[in-house]
Amino acid sequence: MKPENLSISRGADEAIVVLTRLFVEPHKDAILITPPTFGMYKVDALAMPAANVVEVPLLKPSYQLDVPGMVTALENNTNIKLVYLTSPNNPTGNLLDEADILAIIEAAEGKAMVVVDETYIEFTNRASLTTRLQDFPHLIILRTLSKSFSLAGLRMGCAISGDADFVALMRAKGLDAYPLPVASVQAALKVCEPGMQKLAAENRRKLLDERARMEAVFKASPTVVNVYPSDANFLLIEMKNAKGFCDHCGANGVILRDFSTYPGTENCVRISIGTPAENGKLAALLQKF
Ligand SMILES: Cc1ncc(COP(=O)(O)O)c(C=O)c1O
Repeated sequence: MKPENLSISRGADEAIVVLTRLFVEPHKDAILITPPTFGMYKVDALAMPAANVVEVPLLKPSYQLDVPGMVTALENNTNIKLVYLTSPNNPTGNLLDEADILAIIEAAEGKAMVVVDETYIEFTNRASLTTRLQDFPHLIILRTLSKSFSLAGLRMGCAISGDADFVALMRAKGLDAYPLPVASVQAALKVCEPGMQKLAAENRRKLLDERARMEAVFKASPTVVNVYPSDANFLLIEMKNAKGFCDHCGANGVILRDFSTYPGTENCVRISIGTPAENGKLAALLQKF
């Protein structure tokens, strides 16, 4: 992409805040999300006074888009201004079907902006939808250095758009003044050097090997009902007693994300893939549990 297509922000999270600020009018507009999905879309919309959140849940068990349901929502609610599609999705870990994503982008044309959140895309073989930005001026893509480059603490992400005027608007009216610390900018430029790209790719390969190992460990446990296939750096696991397992790990210094009370991920826990030593500790805790 060219510089005029990029709005750099403090993580993809700040891009979500800025998009909400630009497109969602308080007391009037709505966003469309597909739970179970990343929580901040809704948090940011609700932080706009009285913005509405329209939810069309992903279809289980494969957690794919309910395309007819979303098209109907877009037809019935002309106040929907932002549609979020997360691929791979958090917390379910799966890629969304690309034909479905394109169907929603087409259905939203002239109605709403579509944000495709590709925070975890580097863990997959799927090409980024940046190749389609010129075709769809209402498409925005989110990327970040937080996940596959292991640099969440730098707070460097971006929104990418084919529409340079929109990017200029985002920079001028959306972002705070002087948002990016020089140290983070310098570190991000360093990450773009070929040697660092190679290192990041090696780390991703190691992580995917560890993910396969942990998938096998959990699948073999009698406490586990299902390990969902993952295209990300975490696994969503349905257990007989997910909360009990989270409590057991927490008491032993390992913090897991308990999703057992969230609609669509009942009895599920999400584990991040860590270093081999961290994963080994978790495997031992599972054995004990
Ligand atoms: C789907 C998704 N989008 C965006 C983010 C935000 O990432 P960051 O602000 O660190 O770039 C996350 C972080 O967990 C995420 O899971």
